[in-house]
Amino acid sequence: MVKIAPSILSADFSRLGEEVAALEKAGADMIHLDVMDGSFVPNLTFGPEIVKALRLKSKLCFDVHLMVNNPDEMIPWFIAAGADIITVHAEACRHLDKTLSTIRSYGVKAGVSLNPATPEDVLEYVLDKLDLVLVMSVNPGFGGQKFIENSLQKISRIKEMRGSREIEIEVDGGINPLTAARCISAGADILVAGTSVFAGGEYARNIEALR
Ligand code: DX5
Ligand code: ZN
Repeated sequence: MVKIAPSILSADFSRLGEEVAALEKAGADMIHLDVMDGSFVPNLTFGPEIVKALRLKSKLCFDVHLMVNNPDEMIPWFIAAGADIITVHAEACRHLDKTLSTIRSYGVKAGVSLNPATPEDVLEYVLDKLDLVLVMSVNPGFGGQKFIENSLQKISRIKEMRGSREIEIEVDGGINPLTAARCISAGADILVAGTSVFAGGEYARNIEALR
C-alpha cells in the first residue's frame, strides 16, 4: 500500500499547526517538511523552530527534506526538533557516505534525494546506508510545477538497484492522481504532494484520490 506524504509547502502558513493536525485527521501517512535555504534552491521556507512547534501538533512521521547547501551543519538541529526521517540532496553532500552514517547515528532514518538531472548511479556505493531515496520529479524550490516524465525511468532503475534491501522509494513534485498511478506502477512506495492534497480544501478526499 502506497503512503501519502502531504507537503506543507502548500499549506496556509499562518495556520500551520492546524493544517498539520487536519492532514493527520484526513488520513496522511506522514508529513513532508520542505526546508529551503535560498541558496541550494531559489526559495526560503522554515527552520527547526517551526518543525519543533509542529511536532506538538501531530504524532505522524516527520519527513524532513533538506534543500540546503550545508546539511551537515543542520542535521542535528532538525533531529533535536523531532524529525523521524532526514533526507539530504546528493548534490549538496561532499561526503555523502559520512553524512548518511551521521543521520543514522542519531537513530533516525536516512534519505538521499536526487534532482531531476542527477543519475541514480550516485546511490550505488551507499545503498547499505540508506532507508529512503527521494526522486525529485520537478526541479526543487516551488510547488505547482509539472511532473518530469523521465522520473518514472529513474524510479524503476532505483527499484532494481535496491534489490531486497529495505529502502523506500519516494517521489516528489507534480504528483496528482494521474502521475501518482504511473509512479506507483514504476515502483514508488511514498508519494509527496502539495498542490493536489490542498486543492479545494478537501484533504481527505484528495489523499484518497492519490492512494
Ligand atoms: C519542491 C518540494 C515539493 C513540492 C511539491 O521543491 O520539494 O515537496 O512542494 O509540491 P507539488 O505537489 O505542488 O508539486
Ligand atoms: Zn520535498
